[in-house]
Amino acid sequence: MDNFMPSVNQQQLLGMVEDFIQTASSRHSALEGVIGLLASNYKHFNWTGIYILEDGVLKLGPYRGDPSPHVTIPVDNGICGAAVREGKTIVVPDVNADSRYLACSVATKSEIVVPISKNGSIVGEIDIDSDNPDAFKDDDQRILEMVAEKLGELF
Ligand code: SME
Repeated sequence: MDNFMPSVNQQQLLGMVEDFIQTASSRHSALEGVIGLLASNYKHFNWTGIYILEDGVLKLGPYRGDPSPHVTIPVDNGICGAAVREGKTIVVPDVNADSRYLACSVATKSEIVVPISKNGSIVGEIDIDSDNPDAFKDDDQRILEMVAEKLGELF
């Protein structure tokens, strides 16, 4: 893993997210920056991406990790779709035990999907896969929900 920078703490990370939001020239480049930051700061984030909700379909935005076959996901499909329908974060400790799971990589063992909202409506989500089983703990959920709240400002 040679692309990892030294980890920053939660407060520093949120500050860097805010900087991307305030200074990036476009929503895409802000999302690109934030995804790169998350992927490089957490070793257990093996695939880190954004889906944007457009016309009832989730469309893949910036991501780090292997290319996903799921560049569009209807909201009635997958764990990604379930997070939109339920309007809340979904943590899946064992993807192979969840019938909703749409596989991206055979290496993936666990997943977290965190909705991004604007004025109470879901506009997208952060989707993260880990090669470690049960990788996503309360701390991960908390920081990702804070990042998602900030990302809502971009929509
Ligand atoms: N696993 C997701 C699909 C997206 S890929 O992981 C990138 C799902 O079940 O919705």
